[in-house]
Amino acid sequence: MKRIEALLAAMTLEEKIGQLTMVSFGWSETGPNKSVDIRAEIRAGRIGSLLNIWGADETRAIQRLAVEETRLGVPLLLAFDVLHGHRTIFPIPLAEAALFDPAAWERTAREAALEAAADGIALTFAPMLDVSRDPRWGRIAEGPGEDPVLAALFAEAKVRGFQGGDLASAGSLAATAKHIGAYGAVTAGRDYASVDISDRALHEVYLPPFRAAVAAGAAAVMPAFSDLAGTPASANATLLRGLLRERWGFEGVVVSDHGAVAELVVHGVAADLAEAAALALAAGVDIDMMGMAYAQGLVPALERGRVDMGAIDAAVRRVLQLKESLGLFDDPYRRGSAAGAAAGAASRGALARDVARRSIVLLTNNGVLPLARDLRRIAVVGPLAMAAADMLGPWAGAGDPARAVTMVAGLRAALPQCEVVFAAGVEVDSGETRGMIEEALAACRAAEVVVLCLGEGAQMSGEAASRAQPDLPGRQRQFAEAVLAVGRPVVALLSSGRPLMVPWLIARADAVLATWFLGSEAGHAVADVLTGRWNPSGRLPLSWPVDTGQIPIFYGQRRTGRPADPAERYSSKYIDAPAAPLFPFGHGLSYTRFTLSDLQVAPAVAGPHDRVTVAVTVANEGPVDGEETVLLFVHDLVASVARPVLELKGMAKVRLAPGERQVLHLILPVDDLAFLDLDLKPRLEPGAFKVYVGPAADPERLLEASLSVVGD
Ligand code: IFM
Repeated sequence: MKRIEALLAAMTLEEKIGQLTMVSFGWSETGPNKSVDIRAEIRAGRIGSLLNIWGADETRAIQRLAVEETRLGVPLLLAFDVLHGHRTIFPIPLAEAALFDPAAWERTAREAALEAAADGIALTFAPMLDVSRDPRWGRIAEGPGEDPVLAALFAEAKVRGFQGGDLASAGSLAATAKHIGAYGAVTAGRDYASVDISDRALHEVYLPPFRAAVAAGAAAVMPAFSDLAGTPASANATLLRGLLRERWGFEGVVVSDHGAVAELVVHGVAADLAEAAALALAAGVDIDMMGMAYAQGLVPALERGRVDMGAIDAAVRRVLQLKESLGLFDDPYRRGSAAGAAAGAASRGALARDVARRSIVLLTNNGVLPLARDLRRIAVVGPLAMAAADMLGPWAGAGDPARAVTMVAGLRAALPQCEVVFAAGVEVDSGETRGMIEEALAACRAAEVVVLCLGEGAQMSGEAASRAQPDLPGRQRQFAEAVLAVGRPVVALLSSGRPLMVPWLIARADAVLATWFLGSEAGHAVADVLTGRWNPSGRLPLSWPVDTGQIPIFYGQRRTGRPADPAERYSSKYIDAPAAPLFPFGHGLSYTRFTLSDLQVAPAVAGPHDRVTVAVTVANEGPVDGEETVLLFVHDLVASVARPVLELKGMAKVRLAPGERQVLHLILPVDDLAFLDLDLKPRLEPGAFKVYVGPAADPERLLEASLSVVGD
């Protein structure tokens, strides 16, 4: 603390603003600011943090400039997006969410932190915690899906994993919970568009993961690009100061998104950079990433009386505190050991493979999978069959596409006795296809089974990759129809950052798997599942629509006054499509058969602060070992505010051998049955609840019991 106050006292205004300024390392080499000498800016103390730089030598060299060649020697904060791995790339977060497994989520974040820290990084812009119910939005790939409770568990696990036990340690990264402000609800799924949702939805659905991240000690928070009912998140004092800092007690750093402070001018809430800077600072944004709004706007804002030095000092203090917590003042080079980057690479590869195969969701299977052991010839066709870079997905950190295992490579390694014939057939999105389709069809005709690798290219998901029609791009449908017409058994793999709406394919292929973007070990993971070496266990962390017309789609809907009834015209449904998704939240098949029975809730009458035990027997009645995920939902039957028909309250996983059974005990704290009342204050109302347990949010597959909550 003394050090920070002494530094603050010694700093010029320019140096203070420098601490609040983050630029991209490539900025002066590639961007519009080619005239700027980034090293000179650092030496002058005008830059406090950098993003997009990594590598032991590179980070050490740049850090040395700040530490040894600036007036006060304040180390730089070096940041990078480590969304799903750094050099070893794990599955995209949406895929990883399919594990429903906080321990695994934590472990991948920990390993990613070790690799990134060894490359000199101290701050990551992850985890991305935007709940989304709109697969048109490309960034749905980066988050944990549609459910606030699942997302909150994901948030805690990721923060623990990135930050480790001690933020100052050489293997820890400061985590950034991003992007607060219901970014996942952008209008019509169009990236950067406006968000206009109820306060109830904001607090019940979109904010819980951020609250959980803050409670878990997240060092930083990033506001969304979007506006919330007219106030851009970077200027939203109610959200960033009132809620985040004052109500939740967040003491860390708020870092803007790329250029978001300057964009307050484009949003039309600030006339110039001075006003933009004043608004963002007043709202609680400490670091201006790449907008240069603080660098160029804070001085005129001070002169106009729009900001005071106290606010600037408070922001600088928080930035310096973060640098101190990261141990940067004690040893600015503690991260960035090349040896550290190499250490553990083999075990990370094994982890990446395990998490990837556990992320795969078997959507349909008529028995073609697992593949027969005596196959002699399979055709692996489609544009995603040999697409190494696409396996990594968006935001692939420092991942090396050349080392990613393709579907073809994975299957060739797993099936040495079998001829694995590859033909792309078509390009992902466009391109010359003359002759390619014929070659692929010939391969299919000569094969016993066809593995059809379809989907999106990696850059078709993620930021600025919204799609009005999330289906198969380019000529893939035409190709797939031709492959199906050959008449061989077809196993379709869907590589994507979102559910793809291809009901025609799902109806006709013999098996369909959501293979997302699985990372460095994608091909091995897919081969593990197709051959039965791994019994698929992934579960959808979001509802998979039949059609875009159903979007937004999610299981936690409130009951209407006219619940869907096929026999009743005046009920809540479509006349041209089902109301239910094609696959519900939690859906995912296995090669074995699990049954759930004997649901018990004890006590069945409970009061506030009680802990109810929900017991259920899980049995493996099929032929092979398997991992089952059991979800616990509730429904508050009568409340002062209509409650969703299903709300996730817990989950458990169990691994069982054939013939084995186990009683699982899930704990339901009665206080978790509280909801936000009309004033958005948490309130537990006595009354009748239904408790449901099952594999998915599918009313037909849920066991049901009653719970009565009584007053104090
Ligand atoms: O962290 C990201 C953010 O999610 C989107 N815009 C760019 C940032 C830094 O790369």
